[in-house]
Amino acid sequence: MRRDIEPFFAPRAVAVVGASRTPGKIGHEILRNIKLSGFRGNIFPVNPNYGSVLDLPCYRTLADVPSDVDLALIAVPAKLVEGVVGDCVRKRVKSAIIITSGFSEVGRRDLEDRLVSMAKGKMRIIGPNTFGVYCARSSMNATFGPTKVLEGKTAFITQSGALGLALMDWTTEEKYGVSAIVSIGNKADVDDADLVEYFADDPSTSSILIYMEGLKDGRRFFEAARRAVRRKPMVVIKAGRSARGAQAASSHTGSIAGQDAIFAAAFQQAGAMRAEGMTQAFDWIQALNENPVPKGENVVVVTNGGGLGVLSTDRCEMLGLKLMDLSDDLTKQVQDVTPSFGSAKNPIDLTANADDLLYGEVLRLIMRRREVDAVIALFCQTANIDPGLVARAIVDARDKEGLDKPITAAFVGGRMSQMAYEKMLERRFAAYPTAERAVDGMNALMTRHRQLKSFGKGGR
Ligand code: COA
Repeated sequence: MRRDIEPFFAPRAVAVVGASRTPGKIGHEILRNIKLSGFRGNIFPVNPNYGSVLDLPCYRTLADVPSDVDLALIAVPAKLVEGVVGDCVRKRVKSAIIITSGFSEVGRRDLEDRLVSMAKGKMRIIGPNTFGVYCARSSMNATFGPTKVLEGKTAFITQSGALGLALMDWTTEEKYGVSAIVSIGNKADVDDADLVEYFADDPSTSSILIYMEGLKDGRRFFEAARRAVRRKPMVVIKAGRSARGAQAASSHTGSIAGQDAIFAAAFQQAGAMRAEGMTQAFDWIQALNENPVPKGENVVVVTNGGGLGVLSTDRCEMLGLKLMDLSDDLTKQVQDVTPSFGSAKNPIDLTANADDLLYGEVLRLIMRRREVDAVIALFCQTANIDPGLVARAIVDARDKEGLDKPITAAFVGGRMSQMAYEKMLERRFAAYPTAERAVDGMNALMTRHRQLKSFGKGGR
């Protein structure tokens, strides 16, 4: 475990410098979130104007805090930050998150460099220009974002503040659980490579997701990524693909987005999966988090609609997913339970009358088979079948028969289908509203299978 990074995520004592009594002020919201999130360490507000803030004793300066401090959150105006960093160094604070904006993103790299050289060898810094850090393991929400965050397995590192803040709300809405969220800001000191190394070792993190605009030290990052990918999957959204996008990234966080083709090649070499955008990234992460990695490449699709079967076949072909030929005896078993006008070929078409019982039965038949490595279950909403019951049957089949096999599902249709797949998400099942996305999720798992195989791990 990176000892210099650990105090950001598991501090015993936290100080909020610039803590305010005024609701809505950033220094107030951060303190409130740390308190409400159930953080078990000590919390010390620092502000020369108050004796207490949010019922916690408040100190004039960091020097007055009657204890060691592992983490300082700094939310004072830019011109005061240097003084506060000096106070931190003198107090031997181990880590600082500088929330304040107004540094390299507005052309003042000199100010940022001064902070880093003051702290060099003594204290690590996240930021400046960040919204903070959330860590599920420490029950610590040291951000000015939403108070409630859904706990899960993914560490999310974001260079965009707004995107990260939006995601904090998503976690609850869309059931994407996170083990940590780090708003990395201008990366004056701690950068993606440091965090990737840290989360590769973090037992509460099983996948890493990064939103990145640019890198200062590409070589270090790709080395760290290559090592991390041997232990857990990594998904990257790299913005600034286009020339105009790169320009926007530069004025957003002062990043040099670099040549996209070089990034693309380096991600591939390191084994980081590069997503087109947010939706794809989260679809992949969901499939990876909720499933075992397939042991081989044989995929079976089960559907109640010929159209969905064709669409998913096209998508599988395009992505290089192998729809296996079913053996004669498996074909016979499927034929015995499906209507004569259905199809027992892959994709298996159970026809529009297929109910929860039929889905359950066929999925159990398939998932018991050693030669089947992965299953995609698709459902088109019809007038006479309750999507909720089918969803339950699919999750039950996974829980009973398929714990060592990955399965993704799509429920296509109106409100009832949406409710059905949302229920599946609650049961930690990778479910989506379209067949293409269910196939994409499975593709992420297959990519991981191939990676593990190339490391000499996994396989039947
Ligand atoms: N030690 C401790 N507290 C101090 C202080 C010091 N040396 N000097 C001032 N303060 C207090 C102030 O008194 C004030 O609290 P109060 O008004 O309740 O007394 C508090 O610190 C904040 O100072 P204030 O001058 O009111 O600034 P602000 O709250 O309007 O703005 C920032 C401060 C950091 C929020 C602002 O400068 C900023 O950078 N905003 C952008 C942040 C951002 O978007 N980050 C990126 C997100 S992705």
